[in-house]
Amino acid sequence: MELNILTLCYLIGSVTFILGLKMLSNPATARQGNLIAAAGMVIAILGTIFLYTDEAGNKLGNYGWIFGGIAIGTIVGTLAAKKVKMTAMPEMVSMFNGMGGACAALISIVEFNHLIHEPPFSGWTVYPPLSSLDQVGGPDYPYGKILIILLGLIIGSVSFAGSMIAWGKLNGKVKDFSFNGQHIFNIVLLVVILGLATYLIGWVPESTPILFYSIFVLSLLYGIFFVFPIGGADMPVVISLLNSFTGVAAACGGFLYDNKVMLTGGILVGAAGTLLTILMCKAMNRSLANVLIGSFGGSKTGPAAGSKEQGHFKEISLADAAVVMSYANKVMIVPGYGLAVAQAQHACHDLEKLLEAKGVTVKYAIHPVAGRMPGHMNVLLAEADVSYEKLQEMEQANEEFPTTDVVLILGANDVVNPAAKSDPASPIYGMPILDVELAKSVIVNKRSMKPGYAGIENDLFFRPKSSMLFGDAKKVLQDLIGEIKNL
Ligand code: TAP
Repeated sequence: MELNILTLCYLIGSVTFILGLKMLSNPATARQGNLIAAAGMVIAILGTIFLYTDEAGNKLGNYGWIFGGIAIGTIVGTLAAKKVKMTAMPEMVSMFNGMGGACAALISIVEFNHLIHEPPFSGWTVYPPLSSLDQVGGPDYPYGKILIILLGLIIGSVSFAGSMIAWGKLNGKVKDFSFNGQHIFNIVLLVVILGLATYLIGWVPESTPILFYSIFVLSLLYGIFFVFPIGGADMPVVISLLNSFTGVAAACGGFLYDNKVMLTGGILVGAAGTLLTILMCKAMNRSLANVLIGSFGGSKTGPAAGSKEQGHFKEISLADAAVVMSYANKVMIVPGYGLAVAQAQHACHDLEKLLEAKGVTVKYAIHPVAGRMPGHMNVLLAEADVSYEKLQEMEQANEEFPTTDVVLILGANDVVNPAAKSDPASPIYGMPILDVELAKSVIVNKRSMKPGYAGIENDLFFRPKSSMLFGDAKKVLQDLIGEIKNL
């Protein structure tokens, strides 16, 4: 009976994960989806703790350790989540992801140690003499189990070490580092790891734990060297990839323990991470290989890449900008990374309400990779209670620009750079962009003429329709609101 209730708990867990993931794809339901999936996870965990029994009928026990761990994790997680700034979100995701990878690797270590003390190995004094090798390959030889343990160990360790380096890079504690031939070195390292693992699968009796732990250490090293040379700003893509690794490593744990909910959760994370990685690469028009071995956005690509002599740009005063926007029929706001840096989402919503009160239609044009993480702008604007109906996805927005009077760009740069369409030599060539130039006029707010993430100059700023409104986005918006109120 208990087993059935446990199975039911796992079923509920699996269904809530799928439902939650589906709901995460829409900003209006994302928060609720997250809660539903978390509730399913709680049911699955509590079910395992209280209802699981092994073949001999023993319960889990160790409740002090289990609830001690849960309490520490809950306190640390809650405090970290409450404290984190929106711009530091990728950092936090990276840290959490690393913990998942470490967990999967630790499961493999524990299970390896169980395995070598179980039949067919347990009869052998720790590592049997060569004469015992005839048992290798026998019907009881647990090839599958060893394979899963090693997969969990390798993938989990790579994900843990890689995520830690990504975390360090994002918060500035770790600098980009690479040496000549590093990619070759990485490939050799990977081949050595896979070679040792293949050897170990067939020859556990001979393979002392030294071989197993060597694979562990080499995998950690691989994770470090895999992420080290990748440009710091490419980290969101890498984190998403590492996230999918963690999912696969967790699914290995599900196989090992024959735990369906762990398996489902792991597969969902693995699949979602892979899809997200592909989508991000697509939206940036870059191949995954280019992200992994290229240096776009990294320290090696300075502002010089693809840049040209600066031309002439027009400036617009706050007063003029206020007039132009107040007398427009339709204004489209294009938010970008700078809006997040300035934390100007509330001021932006205030401006929107003020203009709407004056009869101006205001909408937001959302580029899929604006900001530094998937859905960054949606989350930011949702925080300020901007209505979801006002958010236009790139394709919709591009259809609306020809009937737009004023486009107000707030801290966006690459996502409106026409070089993506016109300059085959540009590193962002081919990336779909917001066609803001189809509107009657474009006002660009940023603090300087410095480039954005891709490190390249933006010709849009020098075009006849464009005028620059310099300053921190929050301050500019607040001043703009003041000006409009005084009109
Ligand atoms: P960016 O091209 O990075 O440009 C942001 C601009 O904001 C900068 O030019 C900066 O100019 C300005 N800015 C910074 N702080 C500001 C402030 N306080 N007030 C006003 N402006 C400020 O941003 P984007 O257009 O959003 O493009 C995103 C880029 O990130 C793309 O290249 C994308 O491929 C990349 N990327 C995105 C993701 C995801 S998933 N979103 C992941 C990885 C990479 P100043 O310094 O002159 O102010």
